[in-house]
Order: sequence, then C-alpha cells, then structure tokens
Amino acid sequence: MSTSHETAEATAEGEKPCVAVVFGGRSSEHSVSLITARSVLRAIDRDKWDVVSVGISRDSAWFLYSQEELEALLEETPLAQLPVGERRVSLPLQAGDSRLLIHDSGEFGAPLTRGRHVDAVFPLLHGPFGEDGTLQGMLELADLPYVGCGVAASAIGMDKHFMKIAFEAAGLEVGPYTVVPDRMWRTDREGARERIEALGFPVFVKPARAGSSFGITRVDEASQLDAAMETAREHDLKVVVEAGLEGREIECAVLGGHGTEPARASLPGEIEVQGHDFYDFDAKYVEDDGAMLSCPARLPDEVIDTLRRDAVRAFNAVDGEGLARCDFFVTPGNRVVINEINTMPGFTPISMYPRMWAASGLEYSELIDELITLALERPVGLR
Ligand SMILES: Nc1ncnc2c1ncn2[C@@H]1O[C@H](COP(=O)(O)OP(=O)(O)O)[C@@H](O)[C@H]1O
Ligand SMILES: [Mg+2]
Repeated sequence: MSTSHETAEATAEGEKPCVAVVFGGRSSEHSVSLITARSVLRAIDRDKWDVVSVGISRDSAWFLYSQEELEALLEETPLAQLPVGERRVSLPLQAGDSRLLIHDSGEFGAPLTRGRHVDAVFPLLHGPFGEDGTLQGMLELADLPYVGCGVAASAIGMDKHFMKIAFEAAGLEVGPYTVVPDRMWRTDREGARERIEALGFPVFVKPARAGSSFGITRVDEASQLDAAMETAREHDLKVVVEAGLEGREIECAVLGGHGTEPARASLPGEIEVQGHDFYDFDAKYVEDDGAMLSCPARLPDEVIDTLRRDAVRAFNAVDGEGLARCDFFVTPGNRVVINEINTMPGFTPISMYPRMWAASGLEYSELIDELITLALERPVGLR
C-alpha cells in the first residue's frame, strides 16, 4: 500500500505474549461464535496475555472489535451478527511476519496501517470457514501459531463422511450409514433411496459439513425423505444418512498433550434432550430448558473408561491437536458408538467442553491458558 504509513510494534522482551481472539465468521454458527467469544474475553487472564479481539463479518471482513462493543451488541440481541467495523485487519501472509495489519485512518483521514505483533491466534469459530481447516490453512500461510487442530484434522473433523472413515480405521464402532454425493442424488435418485431405505427407518439425514444440527432431519418414513435431502443439501451438496441409533448421548472432552505427553480425556458428560425429537438447534441454543447437561455422566466405571479411551483414540484418528469434543451414543446394552468429533466445540462456561473439564479439575480460565500454551509450543508449517 504505497499511500499508507506503516509502523511495526513487536512484542518487547519480557512483555506478555499477544493472543488474537478471532470470532464471528461466515458460517451459520456466526452468532454462536460471538457468544463463545464474549465468554473467552471475559475469562482470559490479562495478567498473562495481551489480548487483541478480531471480528469476522458474515461476508468475511476482518476488523478490530472490542470486548465492550461485543458486550453491547449481545446485550441488544442474543443471536446477533457483527456489523462491519471500521478498523479493518489483514494478515501480511508472509513467512516470518507474524503481525496483524490494522488499517485505520490517521490525521486528515489519511490511510494509516499499523502492524500489531501477535504470538498466537485463538480461533473461536464454529463450522465452515472456521472449524474446517480453511482458516487454519491461512494461519499456516501467515506463519501464525493457533489454538486447536491443524488443517487436516479440522477438515476431517468437519466432514461427517471422512471422520467416519478415520474412526473405522482406528477400530472405533460407527453406526450404519450411507453417503449420498451430489451427483448420485441428481443422476441416480432411485439408487440413493434404495441405499437409504436399506438402513431402516428412522434415519438421520445430515449435511456432511455443517454443525449445530443445521440441516439435520430425523426421517421416520420414505415419504419424508426427499424434503429432508433438500434441507440437508441447502447446507452441503454431500449428504450423510445414518440409521437412527437408540442410546444415551454421552460426550467426552479431549485436550492435547504437551511435547511427548499423550492427549487426555475428561470425565464424560450426558446430554438429556427435553421436549425435542433430538438435540436440534433450538434445544442447543434457543431454549434454556431444551437440554440438560450433566457431568459426570452416571455410567458404570468400565463404560467411563471405554469412553475416555475411545475419545483419545478418535482424537488421534483424525490427527487432533489442542482440543476436541468427542460425542458418543451409549446403547441400552452399554455399547459405545461414536457419533462425531468437534474440533471447535461450544466453549462458553456452560457448554459441555469446559464443563467436562471443570468436573475433571480444570477451570475455565485455566483451560484457556492451557490451550494457548499448547498453541505456543507447537510449530507451524506442513500440517
Ligand atoms: N444416528 C443417529 N441416531 C440418533 N440420533 C441422532 C443420530 N445422529 C444425530 N442424532 C441426533 O441429532 C443431533 C445432531 O447430530 P450431529 O451428528 O451431532 O450433528 P451436529 O454436528 O450438527 O451436532 C445429535 O446430537 C442427536 O441428538
Ligand atoms: Mg453434534
């Protein structure tokens, strides 16, 4: 930018590491991300970390957005969308240059670009363009360490088709399912219907890459199938259809290990859905009493051990780093069947991931410290 004036602000020796907390984003989980970010900004230990907070609008503009602005926005509307801020932010995307470039206007409105050194990025983004490896890839290009899973793990963890392949390869039990790619639905709809009906009803029709239950329908009979497919296809043209499983919904939180330490799993928690067919969007975020989360889940010790072991296996199966939440069904006969892995799970203090760690002895702000520390320890490049 030839007209702008650029200054650098590196973190001086002995100063606190600077963490860029990034939130919002392009996915339908934008609003959920804002709620998560508010919690993290309230809890992050400012004696340990310098914090810069960056919002991403639904159409992908990056800008500085302060905690105060976020608090005020969410006070007005709980499921808000970020208005595009004035101080736009970009990344140099150059090896060795770990700055955020902040584009402001200086005296007499002249463009002014400041460089703000950052040591790590904490992406609090759920769903596509945040949790799916795309943002992680950009941070790799920018040489910036970040919290959580790398490119491949994030992409696999986003895709309900590929995560099952990874789980099966690791010897984990996955429920019966079939994949309906776009071309099949358009050229061989009868063949697709046959494959789906062979699973037996009910089935769950899901976009392969979405989240927060968006686009998911429980289908009880063949006549409802086409409408459910179209709903899923609004989110992703690749659709995964699963046999409905009977069982309790049990989750387990995983935290990456330092250095050569193995990843560890928390005590499991249970989701009890109330007044809904399944754990849909409203039960998750809209209704206060849509679901009851309890931790630790009341289960026999040996089932708890299996869940914790399988959660770490699932984490390793996708090459996880940092954090992930692994979600299971425990059948009436106590078989442990994995449903999915979430590489950026809900992360408010009342979300399952932090609650399971709290029940296991790790409080919310310590968990944040731990995740940033893990990010700082890990090199960037080729992931
Ligand atoms: N195969 C299944 N059998 C029974 N219930 C299911 C099945 N798949 C999903 N569900 C229900 O739908 C919810 C959302 O599905 P999930 O695969 O976890 O999607 P998301 O990634 O959006 O959370 C689950 O928490 C559960 O309540
Ligand atoms: Mg889920």
